[in-house]
Amino acid sequence: MIYTHKELKNKNDKIIRDDILDNFKSISPTAIVTSYPRAFTDIPYEKEIYQWLQINCKNNDVELNKLLAPEIEARYKLTNKILDELNIKQVVEIAAGYSSRGIIYAEKGYEYVEMDLEEVARNKVRLLKDITNIPNNLHIVSGNALNYADFEKCEKLLDKNKELAIINEGLLRYLTFEEKEIVAKNIYNVLKEFNGVWITCDVTPKKFIDKQNVCLPDFNKNLNKVTSRNDLQDRFRDIEHIKAFMNKIGFKNIDIHRFIEMKEQLKSFEILGVAKEEYNELLENAIVAVIKI
Ligand SMILES: C[S@@+](CC[C@H](N)C(=O)[O-])C[C@H]1O[C@@H](n2cnc3c(N)ncnc32)[C@H](O)[C@@H]1O
Repeated sequence: MIYTHKELKNKNDKIIRDDILDNFKSISPTAIVTSYPRAFTDIPYEKEIYQWLQINCKNNDVELNKLLAPEIEARYKLTNKILDELNIKQVVEIAAGYSSRGIIYAEKGYEYVEMDLEEVARNKVRLLKDITNIPNNLHIVSGNALNYADFEKCEKLLDKNKELAIINEGLLRYLTFEEKEIVAKNIYNVLKEFNGVWITCDVTPKKFIDKQNVCLPDFNKNLNKVTSRNDLQDRFRDIEHIKAFMNKIGFKNIDIHRFIEMKEQLKSFEILGVAKEEYNELLENAIVAVIKI
């Protein structure tokens, strides 16, 4: 089922105008940038998804880099590992893009809500219908993470008596600190209604970008051509900065996991024929935070 919204209003009664919301559309093609490297892993559905995008999203002309695969595979698998260990069976994934996680966990019986901007949500429904069936427990919602009313649409699909995990991979890095604060407050307000946790790799600090620039020399330069919202100034400085930011929102408990935990589970090294050791520093510096109220 696909939902659209007319009135955009967040919980604090702050009206977010359409032109401001339109501002985020330039981030959407980056969902293809992250989908492509997952085709060089053993993650189910990813090859079919990328093939679909190749045929149906030709106008999204973005530079692709398969050497991103170990990083993207690590964040995907580490997020799954954390979710599995928490044993929480309801999920809202914000900015889900073209990731396969929603369909895979819905097939395992999870109640799974994906939220992304309208065009991506619409493509996601089309692509899933073309490559498989959409089960009743997978909901693709068109929405904006800065707009609390869109989270309310997700809440209505879920059971408030059960714990909730909110997941996001690859959105906050493109937002200014003011925008990050709106998203984080929205997530806090949802988690206050449910008991649960926010799992995100999206707080990875600046030092990681320096390593990314060494491993993948042109990646950030090319990403700047896709979206103007890839500004180093909008990155957290370090883990202390992340904790201070989250504490200010009201989150009390922040655990940090490092991508390197998944090193032995990454199939992309072999598929790409690259040496694991070349990625050590990159995987050491990239993190997933597990954040609780
Ligand atoms: C780098 S992609 C990541 C997609 C997916 N999570 C992945 O890892 O492949 C960023 C995603 O954020 C979505 N996005 C951008 N601004 C958004 C917003 N304000 N609210 C919700 N989603 C947004 C884009 O449409 C895009 O799908």
